[in-house]
Amino acid sequence: MNPAEEIEQLRAELNQANYEYYVLSQPRLTDRAYDERMRRLQDLEILYPMYADPHSPTQRVGSDLNQAFRQEAHRYPMLSLGNTYSEAEVADFYQRVCRTLGENVELVCELKYDGTSIALHYEQGRLVKALTRGDGTVGDDVTENVKTIRSIPLVLRGSDYPERFEIRGEILLPWSVFEDLNREREARSEPLFANPRNAASGTIKLQNASLVAKRRLDAYFYYVLGEKLPATEHLSNLQKAKSWGFKVSDAVTLCHNLDEVFAFLKKWDVERASLPVATDGVVIKVNRLDQQAELGFTAKSPRWAIAYKFQAEQAATRLLSVDYQVGRTGAVTPVANLEPVLLSGTTVKRASLHNADIIEALDLHIGDRVFVEKGGEIIPKIVAVDPKSRAADGQPVGFTDRCPDCATPLLRYPGEAAHYCPNQLHCPTQVKARLEHFVQRKAMNLEGMGPETIDALHRLELLKTPADFYGLKPVQLMGMERMGEKSIRNLMQALRESKQVPFERVLFALGIRFVGETVAKRLAKAFGSMDALAAADREQLLAVDEVGERISDSVLAFFADPENRDMLERLRSAGLQMQGESTAAPVSNRLSGQSVVISGVFVHHDRDAYKALVEAHGGKVASSISAKTSFVLAGDKMGPAKLEKARSLGIEIRSEDEFLALLQSDENTTL
Ligand code: IVH
Repeated sequence: MNPAEEIEQLRAELNQANYEYYVLSQPRLTDRAYDERMRRLQDLEILYPMYADPHSPTQRVGSDLNQAFRQEAHRYPMLSLGNTYSEAEVADFYQRVCRTLGENVELVCELKYDGTSIALHYEQGRLVKALTRGDGTVGDDVTENVKTIRSIPLVLRGSDYPERFEIRGEILLPWSVFEDLNREREARSEPLFANPRNAASGTIKLQNASLVAKRRLDAYFYYVLGEKLPATEHLSNLQKAKSWGFKVSDAVTLCHNLDEVFAFLKKWDVERASLPVATDGVVIKVNRLDQQAELGFTAKSPRWAIAYKFQAEQAATRLLSVDYQVGRTGAVTPVANLEPVLLSGTTVKRASLHNADIIEALDLHIGDRVFVEKGGEIIPKIVAVDPKSRAADGQPVGFTDRCPDCATPLLRYPGEAAHYCPNQLHCPTQVKARLEHFVQRKAMNLEGMGPETIDALHRLELLKTPADFYGLKPVQLMGMERMGEKSIRNLMQALRESKQVPFERVLFALGIRFVGETVAKRLAKAFGSMDALAAADREQLLAVDEVGERISDSVLAFFADPENRDMLERLRSAGLQMQGESTAAPVSNRLSGQSVVISGVFVHHDRDAYKALVEAHGGKVASSISAKTSFVLAGDKMGPAKLEKARSLGIEIRSEDEFLALLQSDENTTL
């Protein structure tokens, strides 16, 4: 066999094995045989690069390069569905549809998968593009990430597929993977995903496809679109899609009347508990495509389909004890420890109790039989108590009067439900949470400063306030876990760059209670500088849009504190932006008069950051190359047409490293 034939055969065998394993759940090849074939194919593809193919099974591991997502308009807008919790409204839907069409209709009932929707485009049987829903009109091109999902065919089976078509479905993270993932995140003190849906949508938007490949996503498909579909009925098209290698749920059922629809709802409300992935209802669709077309769409959703949502599942268990946790703002929240109970696919051991009022309203006693329910949050809530179950010696749940971390007596502000630990500057949990808040992307964006590093530096007493970040020396970080030479260099770079972060984000980063992103923007705009804000009185603060007494008191208290003032002085000396754009001078005029085109995928920063950098140094960003372009800042995968145009006009192309070096170089050198 010549190499081309061997490559072809290995690809076919591996595609078949993937299909059997991930779509049919019936593996026939052993793991070892699979690995051997995969390794052989990888070797051959390296030896014979002329046979490379982006649809080869080897391409599912995902590239390690950072990618920025290109946006693209959907060929058909991605609409949502009208939804209901009531069977009576399902009956109304059915009657309305029959009345409008003047005949009886067949309906298809499907499970409503609770993940993140995806639109795949196939041409000549090959996956060419995958778009997220985005705003319904324009989505992100996540093709590279989607290719790592093993149950999605890169090359279709059979031959009776249309030349071009689109198929929509739901990307899901199975419950078991979700739990493993959260366990790992908990061990690394990373924030947990609230539910598999958030985990799936977060994963598909990761900028590194090799990380996506590790997350073991799955996908089910429920809607085929295109000009030349094989059948005139929705169900037959789904069955065709199944034969092309897509995962289509076995639950899909044709119903001839309402009774059959209700039977489906009843059956799956119970049986969905044993499914490997999350579902939150049933989608009921008119089967015939000509009838769908006649019914048409409203601005938001099709008139030929409706979603029936299941009630949130409840479970009964026992209250064992109550713990208290303190958050960034000092709010202390009670958390119930429960006898473990299975609820919507996960074991529940803890439930949020929110605040003292809720405990009181529930008249909660230790040992009570309680009912828990899961909303969209990871921590379920206690919705009811069975008072008859109470033991004679059951102790009422009070509320702690001291901070669970630093034992400071708690305060309760008038009109507020929460208890607060007032020891904001020294309560360790609050201090660390404030540092974590400061480094986040939306604030100072100090990438690489994860919770464990903050925790370790806090324990070493190197970090207490955000100002301490700017005093960190590389030697102090050496030898710390996860702090290799490269991470240290990146962190130092992030610290330097954070000096360009605009004033409004610096203000948000301080973590002043009740000053979120929007309020920070308003305050920054109204006062223009940290000094003016610090000098503002109550009346001036209250005059700002959206600022009420709660916020103004909190701002006044923050600036009244000498320790905060001291920290602000240190941040100012470190070079952080302490005034708004209108008054701030550009960082330099290094690029003044220059027109820069940014193209390709970058490794160190994303495109927006480069745009901001060009502008901060006095340059302008243009979208297309022309004779006026001063230079092109080129990342990876810059389009060949652009490259050619730049070359033909003799325009210089700079890599991101060259560009960054340029910004740091001496002011007086000419470009
Ligand atoms: S059909 C034009 N079928 O639910 C409507 N959607 O609320 C096409 N979903 O955006 C959607 N399972 O992300 C359809 N079996 C199913 C579904 C389903 C889950 C999601 C989908 C859609 C949302 C609508």
